[in-house]
Amino acid sequence: MKIRHASISNFRNFESLQIKFADRLNIFVGENGQGKTNILEAVYFIIEGESFRYSRYDTLIQENKSEAFIKCLIENRNLDYDLKINLTAHHKNFLINEKKSSQIAAELPPAILFSPESLNSIKESADHRRQLLDQILIQTYTFGKKLVNEFKRALKTRNKLLKDINSEKIDREIGIKTLESLNPIYLKLASELTFLRLEALKNIKPDVQKTLNEIHNENQAIFDYNYIISDQNFCNESAQKILEFLEKRLEDLAIAEIRSGASLIGPQKHDVVFLYNGKDSRFFCSQGQQRSIILAFKMAQIVYHHRVHGFYPVLLLDDVLSELDLSKQESLISTLNQIETQTFVTTTDTSVLKKLRMEKSQIFHVDSGIVTLHS
Ligand SMILES: Nc1ncnc2c1ncn2[C@@H]1O[C@H](COP(=O)(O)OP(=O)(O)OP(=O)(O)O)[C@@H](O)[C@H]1O
Ligand SMILES: [Mg+2]
Repeated sequence: MKIRHASISNFRNFESLQIKFADRLNIFVGENGQGKTNILEAVYFIIEGESFRYSRYDTLIQENKSEAFIKCLIENRNLDYDLKINLTAHHKNFLINEKKSSQIAAELPPAILFSPESLNSIKESADHRRQLLDQILIQTYTFGKKLVNEFKRALKTRNKLLKDINSEKIDREIGIKTLESLNPIYLKLASELTFLRLEALKNIKPDVQKTLNEIHNENQAIFDYNYIISDQNFCNESAQKILEFLEKRLEDLAIAEIRSGASLIGPQKHDVVFLYNGKDSRFFCSQGQQRSIILAFKMAQIVYHHRVHGFYPVLLLDDVLSELDLSKQESLISTLNQIETQTFVTTTDTSVLKKLRMEKSQIFHVDSGIVTLHS
């Protein structure tokens, strides 16, 4: 997929921006607070239908304006797409090739975002690692997004019910009966999501190992993972075994769940632990080694997406280059040289420009919401 052109108006600090993108590499250089990330945010929004920053729509719309527009011309598999989003304080409206749509163009590949926060996901909470994994499910498998959302809804309903029973908002007996009727579908979704996570990990593992080898060059390390449910590793278990285990845990913890007023069983409680030469990377790896794993994992996601679908997603690298040491920068750049993905990079560091030499690339200067071409 290639984004050829964008028109952005009244979005963040851009009043009116017309920008023609290069096919391979687009670099946005500028000082802090000039609008570099805002451009990536607009590109991400048109592809993913949401922002990657926590943002109410009114914060995306330029101050003192009532609506924002993002328009992109995209080419994917020899087909042209004219995508438009119109944002008001409470609504987003999509137009795909001039036709109204309730959602983004689902057949287009995703935008993969890589930010300094993603580099630190290993040492952060289990929730960060689960998000890293679920992002792959959502972005790589057609049914992944549906499954993740269905499970979220089932969890919300179940948690609300447990809370109501706990606070005696509803009659305990009626509440427990309703809970029992919800449990089979909850368990089905919980085990399907768990199993899809395990499938994704198994499928992406060779790509992670390959990219990790490229990053490390001489100091090779073996990548592996454990998938932890209630302190046990389930990475080689069947879907049936997982379902049986979750069923048993649900029975065992029935009283505890009511007492705590929340679901204690399910993928929202699981953890994925990355192993580096057989050791738990959270405790045994240096910060640099942890970053290598995440870098390898993200790059592998792009390679894997191409392997499954035959085309590359768009890659957004927000401020990451300056966070990486020289050898990791070089390996990231060499991977970018090998793959056909269209990449958008932001940086404050002009020394990065000398390293990023690639055909079909363009450097843009961003200064107070004005973008100019670097000759
Ligand atoms: N709704 C809005 N209306 C007008 N300006 C906005 C709006 N939202 C954010 N901004 C402005 O956008 C700028 C931030 O842009 P952005 O996050 O893209 O900066 P950046 O160039 O990526 O900086 P850094 O290098 O620090 O990451 C700030 O100056 C902020 O005031
Ligand atoms: Mg920024």
